[in-house]
Amino acid sequence: MRILVTGGAGFIGSHFVRLLLASHPDCQVTNLDKLTYAGNLENLADCAEDPRYRFVKGDICDAELVRGLMGESDAVVHFAAESHVDRSIVDSAPFFETNVRGTFTLLEAARQVPLQRFVHVSTDEVYGPIPPGRWVNEAGALLPSSPYSAAKAASDMLVLAYARTYGVPALITRAGNNYGPFQFPEKFIPLIVSNALEDRPLPLYGDGLQVRDWLHVEDHCRALDLLLERGERGEIYNIGTGREHTNLEVARAVLDLLGKPQSLITFVEDRPAHDRRYALDCAKLNSSPGWRAAIEFADGLRRTVEWYAGHPEWVGRVRHGAYREYYERHYVRREETLAAMLRGGGRS
Ligand SMILES: NC(=O)c1ccc[n+]([C@@H]2O[C@H](COP(=O)([O-])OP(=O)(O)OC[C@H]3O[C@@H](n4cnc5c(N)ncnc54)[C@H](O)[C@@H]3O)[C@@H](O)[C@H]2O)c1
Repeated sequence: MRILVTGGAGFIGSHFVRLLLASHPDCQVTNLDKLTYAGNLENLADCAEDPRYRFVKGDICDAELVRGLMGESDAVVHFAAESHVDRSIVDSAPFFETNVRGTFTLLEAARQVPLQRFVHVSTDEVYGPIPPGRWVNEAGALLPSSPYSAAKAASDMLVLAYARTYGVPALITRAGNNYGPFQFPEKFIPLIVSNALEDRPLPLYGDGLQVRDWLHVEDHCRALDLLLERGERGEIYNIGTGREHTNLEVARAVLDLLGKPQSLITFVEDRPAHDRRYALDCAKLNSSPGWRAAIEFADGLRRTVEWYAGHPEWVGRVRHGAYREYYERHYVRREETLAAMLRGGGRS
């Protein structure tokens, strides 16, 4: 099968490309990625020489390029997105450009070629906050809170419309928060691990009691691989573990694993519209095609912490090297930027 992966140089996409090449000897993978600050070809260095793998640097909003690549493909797995909520609060324009117009561009091409499958990788954040004691299934209302989740929800709507109107053989997946190696250290777990390794404070928004369903990236990719083969067109699938952890619990566990003091935990002003809890009902995926997360959180977190501790050069390059200017400008000052916004002082 010839598979077009968008955003394959990012965190989840790179794990998925590696899984495809390892488990499908007859596949051919084209990775279309713009290489934004979040895209890093180093994540796929071990695949670069594989004759079944091809990297194309390009934008999913480039209709001509997308049409050409899709014409050579049997299936598409669409990861490419602006993916960080905090950045979407500071500047939402790239989120609507890539997540909405980019997905529209892919769907327009998809309706003109004989594709077998189009997997649209979405997120549990489209459902908005879920009250304690409840779990949302795929029929749940979409109530996105951030520009990021609004753009993802909009792209989900486009996918459903193109599946119904034009028969694009698409399905949507909505996963919980992912963690694992190669995640850009602006996201919660790699941020706190890399800060702890450098004895820097671990910033926790608000009271740190936000609840997430943490999904190891390898479990997520196994579910996507299964759905690529056996998912039903036009359907939506939640992907989660059913387990809940607060950010504070996760931060405490990371400090314990690294033997660092709990005093590194620093509570910072909460971000606007921060969803308190996500909780997915995954009964549909559990029953058919039949998938369950295999990696226990305690084990996955320990391995993830070990990976970051063992790859200081990767963290250094990503955090302080090639991307330093962007990182400093858009991320390190995020607390003061968001605090200024909350005070009504505008963006810095
Ligand atoms: N990280 C999570 O916890 C999580 C959870 C559920 C769903 N998702 C979804 O999974 C997908 C991948 O997430 P991730 O965490 O790996 O993101 P990421 O930010 O690590 O990677 C995104 C990739 O997309 C590329 N990209 C961005 N704009 C592009 C464009 N216009 N054209 C081509 N490539 C472009 C980037 O260069 C990067 O390689 C996203 O769609 C995200 O919404 C993520």
